Amino acid sequence: MNYIVHSVLVSDGGDSFRIDTANTSYVIGIQDGLYLGHFYYGAKIPETDLSYKTAFAPPMSPVKTSRELCVFMDCYNFEYPGWGTGDSREGALKAIDSNGTSRVNLLYKGYRISSGKEPIPGLPSTFAAEDPVETLEIDLQDPDTGLSVTLFYTAFPECDVIARRVEVKNEGGHDLDLQRVLSATMDMPGVDRQGRPFELLTYHGTWAREFTKEIRPIGFGRTGVVSICGKTGNRMQSFLGLVSPAVSQEQGQVYGLQFLYSGNFSSMVEKGPNGDIRVSMGIHPEEFSWKLCPGETFHSPEVVLTYSDAGLGKMSRNFHDLYRAHLIRGKYKDKKRPILINNWEATYFDFDHDKLLSIAKQAKECGIEMLVVDDGWFGKRNDDNTSLGDWTVNEEKLPGGIRRLSDELSAMGMKLGLWFEPEMVSPDSDLFRAHPDYAIAIPGREPARSRNQLVLDVSRKEVRDYLFDSIRKVLESADIAYVKWDMNRHLSDLYSAGLPSGRQGELMHRFTLGVYDLQERLLSAFPDLLLENCSSGGARFDPGMLYYSPQIWTSDDTDAYERIRIQAGAQTLYPLSCLGAHVSICPNHVTGRTVPFMTRGIVALAGTFGYELDITQLSEEDKAHIRRQVELFHTYNDLIRNGDFYRIASFADNGFYDCYGVVSKDKKEMLLTFLHVMNQPCMPNRHICLKGLAPEKRYRVFLVEESSGKEKKDIVCEAFGSTLMNAGIVIPCMYGDFQSALYHIEEV
Ligand code: DGJ
Repeated sequence: MNYIVHSVLVSDGGDSFRIDTANTSYVIGIQDGLYLGHFYYGAKIPETDLSYKTAFAPPMSPVKTSRELCVFMDCYNFEYPGWGTGDSREGALKAIDSNGTSRVNLLYKGYRISSGKEPIPGLPSTFAAEDPVETLEIDLQDPDTGLSVTLFYTAFPECDVIARRVEVKNEGGHDLDLQRVLSATMDMPGVDRQGRPFELLTYHGTWAREFTKEIRPIGFGRTGVVSICGKTGNRMQSFLGLVSPAVSQEQGQVYGLQFLYSGNFSSMVEKGPNGDIRVSMGIHPEEFSWKLCPGETFHSPEVVLTYSDAGLGKMSRNFHDLYRAHLIRGKYKDKKRPILINNWEATYFDFDHDKLLSIAKQAKECGIEMLVVDDGWFGKRNDDNTSLGDWTVNEEKLPGGIRRLSDELSAMGMKLGLWFEPEMVSPDSDLFRAHPDYAIAIPGREPARSRNQLVLDVSRKEVRDYLFDSIRKVLESADIAYVKWDMNRHLSDLYSAGLPSGRQGELMHRFTLGVYDLQERLLSAFPDLLLENCSSGGARFDPGMLYYSPQIWTSDDTDAYERIRIQAGAQTLYPLSCLGAHVSICPNHVTGRTVPFMTRGIVALAGTFGYELDITQLSEEDKAHIRRQVELFHTYNDLIRNGDFYRIASFADNGFYDCYGVVSKDKKEMLLTFLHVMNQPCMPNRHICLKGLAPEKRYRVFLVEESSGKEKKDIVCEAFGSTLMNAGIVIPCMYGDFQSALYHIEEV
């Protein structure tokens, strides 16, 4: 691919800036030498100066007359609006001055262009990979408060992504109280190129029902998605999409924004009286304040933006490429992950050394590579009422400790993984008895419990030190290859014993920074560790966590039928390489549904892949299925992790079948998954047009697996890519619900 050498361009007059990616342009400029305006974001254009678009009538120009300044402020397309200046739309930056006033009037000061991209202190951020990147920094200043703001823009040309963030510095002489610092805003037309109003695409859910897609009209006023529970949560993804009406995988304009942050967020769209919209994304201003002393800087989390002219599929591939190349780190970034078996759904809390070993032995015989010991190995934890915080092994369950288990697993060639829930404490724990103030709770008031547990105040360094030391001791005591980091409740009863009363509003953000600090310390101390984040399933599934863990548990709902929809939502925003997906037992523990074993495997192959069942209870037939699934994983996981994802048909849309494919970057091969979800009377064959192939290449199509177990490695046809993508293939009708097939398409 040809990359652009300079992605940041400046107009001759020095008052307009254009940021280019392979297929997009983003243009901002300065109005009357004062205000930074947003002029354009969309398909690539050759113009840098778009000031002709702001041909204001004379009374509207702030330098020609101050008579209508307030009207100007309320109508102008700002790039990053302040507060209290007459702009009655959602502001980006609000600060209380020493006299109690809150106006922030941001005026243009200057710019810099640098090569490369600096990390953000204490926060996750995208980074440059092999190709160089350029960063544009624009300085704004409020002369009255002394607040100085730098807007950062970095282009990732090959992914069509622009990363944005801000730094806010107090250059005045007294303390300022920041009340909101959004990471990015954008004022833009409310209609697409065909004059049709953009619609809002979001993902909502709850426990066991994550990633549910919704597209709705954008009405006048403010609408959007938020979290104020202290983590991103499963109710709303922080993602915002602005899409053309009837957007499809291939057609329609799409703006996608994601927030690299794991705490409270606000992702908003505001439609004004003329139909234009202001998009904003950042830390939710509720439960947020930050005291900024003279000389101090506040760093906002990062937002990543992408634009696609070619529907949702292109947006997904842009985000997938960005996260795989420029966000996910560590040893397993580009590597196949060990196939694991997790004992949670197999045993819950009811296990001991011998039970785990018998699971591991049979798993090993089937080709599984790692045993993950989930909740219940520590303290006195035989149910969920006790022991969180006491990270020492329960020798009654595991005599000889983790060390003995790990030695015995190593001897049989199996790796060991372990579950932790570091941010939590049980009131019935040695930790809580010794340090009740470590929990987030208001002195003198009873804090709300959830799953009978409280949240530890990881904004405090001494709490993080305790946690790091206890986890480190366990990890050093044995050969532990993997950690599942869980987080199973919201924050409430906000008070930190580590903060003075004037700074209590900082707790939520400091909590998130504390989680990041702990995970960073863990990864620095154990660089080979494979970390999987989890939060009651996917309640903290966000790009911020992906900076620390290359995979995240997608949902506690392991029913393959449910997973088709949940994973379809997750695949729209995140690469398949990071979606935690396991085969579990039927009837499924969450839904009671039964799905054929091979279909369960085929659905889980579109993720990290593993098992979550008591293998000692399985029939020989099911164990044979596991061996075959393990073989499929080893054959196709490189392609699944690294390829380009194409959704071909969606069960959520058609009610009967689902179909998606992964094409290798060199277009030499494709793995096609067909899921015959619901039987249809008078079952028709399915007509499937492949996507993403090279039109001129010739391919052979093989059936490699079918849930019915009938045919294997049958050649279906041989044809050019253009034929397969236009005339398509026919998938013969299948009998019964939840059947599935895998096809491999190879260049001849
Ligand atoms: C919630 C997780 O999502 C589950 O996978 C499991 O680890 C339990 N917690 C254990 O308590």
